[in-house]
Amino acid sequence: THSLRLGVAGLGTVGASVVRMIARRADALSAATGREIRVTAVSSRDRTRDRGLDLSGIQWFDDPVALAGSGEVDCVVELIGGSAGPAKATVEAALASGKHVVTANKALLAHHGAALAKAAEAAGVALAFEASVAGGIPVVKAIREGLPGNAVSRVYGILNGTCNYILSRMEREGLTFEACLKDAQALGYAEADPTFDVEGFDTAHKLAILTSLAFGTVVDAEGVSVEGISRVQPLDLRMADELGYRIKLLGVAQATAAGIEQRVHPTMVPKSSAIAQVMGVTNAVTVDADAVGELTLIGPGAGGEATASAVVADVTDVAAGLVRPAFGRPSATLRPSERVEMQRH
Ligand code: HSE
Repeated sequence: THSLRLGVAGLGTVGASVVRMIARRADALSAATGREIRVTAVSSRDRTRDRGLDLSGIQWFDDPVALAGSGEVDCVVELIGGSAGPAKATVEAALASGKHVVTANKALLAHHGAALAKAAEAAGVALAFEASVAGGIPVVKAIREGLPGNAVSRVYGILNGTCNYILSRMEREGLTFEACLKDAQALGYAEADPTFDVEGFDTAHKLAILTSLAFGTVVDAEGVSVEGISRVQPLDLRMADELGYRIKLLGVAQATAAGIEQRVHPTMVPKSSAIAQVMGVTNAVTVDADAVGELTLIGPGAGGEATASAVVADVTDVAAGLVRPAFGRPSATLRPSERVEMQRH
């Protein structure tokens, strides 16, 4: 069998880690899939920047859309980011030319996931996005592939490392929100526009994706009610502490008699709970499902290597020929608000 040729669009922290990981794990990946996996093309805005990468023998594209249309690429790895602009154009071009797509782009999927999934299905290619939610935690696979025998009643979690880092430091060190945000940005985990982190939009994007996987509804970012952490004061954290609670920014989706409710807001969680132990940039996702009960996955929610781990998992599926409907069932049509919980008899 011929090798799988990857085109990596976007060479930031995650993209550089993906290129290195594919090379470093070449033997293990070909043993796992029966195929060689090679990066044959890359694209990025700045050609001159030294990323410490060996790009010899790899074709460079200034334009990611041209990379997506290249005959030398079987699978496009989109790591540009953003719900519009070049990221969207690149993914659409890749699907239109019958190429598999692996992406970490939660904003793009949250806003256009339904249409992109349809395009991928029509083309018979994969649209894979393990890296889009909770970085290195294999939560997409856990929900989509791991729980088909379950009816899920609730999924919730800490889905933004930047916010959890800020709240953790505010609580432990009594620092202000502003001071902690600066440090979080310096660590490199925050979005280009940190409003997306602190006002809860990034959590909402990831929640919208999880909701779709857990409940079989179309991705509906507009249906999420969102409140961030920018108004949380050190005093709020002290008061919560005295009452035996921590404050976490949670994304919650749950089945109600009025449909699947999706919300993001600062939440008091009992200090004794599993989710309260999650500090720093770590993420956590809990699923309540009828057969397995409560299941919690905890791990790194951001960072180059952790996120590359999720990208490479998807690439491996593509190499092995696994093409599933992106959100677990072909062409789900109900929006979360329309999926009313059935009465149990
Ligand atoms: N800005 C995000 C976070 C990066 O802080 O969790 C990972 O999506």
